[in-house]
Amino acid sequence: MSESLSLTVNGVAYSVNVDMGRNLLSVLRGELGLTGTKEGCDDCECGACMVLIDGKPVNSCSFLAVQAADRSVTTIEGVVTPEGLDQVQQAFLEKGGVQCGFCTPGMIMSARALLDQCPDPSEEEIKIGLSGNLCRCTGYSRILAAVALAAAAD
Ligand code: FES
Ligand code: FES
Repeated sequence: MSESLSLTVNGVAYSVNVDMGRNLLSVLRGELGLTGTKEGCDDCECGACMVLIDGKPVNSCSFLAVQAADRSVTTIEGVVTPEGLDQVQQAFLEKGGVQCGFCTPGMIMSARALLDQCPDPSEEEIKIGLSGNLCRCTGYSRILAAVALAAAAD
């Protein structure tokens, strides 16, 4: 049964009619048109669907949309600043941390959350911060280098 749900995503207030059993990922992509957040495993394994809820990284495939009501949701579309790309996005470009790009939005959200909590992370802390995100292309070393670069630039 559909009910009205109020969400705040990237600082914008939305009201949508959705089945209360739907996950946040499907509402972001299907109802709000925010397709930067990707669907990979749909089983809390790959991190492609990572968004921030009140600043904390969450797999949106395994999070009911109704749980996000009255909380602040940030997706990859909300990371860009009026001045341009976020430092993490810029660093991924500079270090070649993007190949097919499917994992990249989720990686960037996890990295952004890490740097907001821990501005000067060690390599081990970066690995832990990205441990919920899988990449099939890059071999990870360029992604780790990108997050280290972003930390230095932040
Ligand atoms: S799609 Fe959500 S963790 Fe893989
Ligand atoms: S760049 Fe292709 S999955 Fe990570």
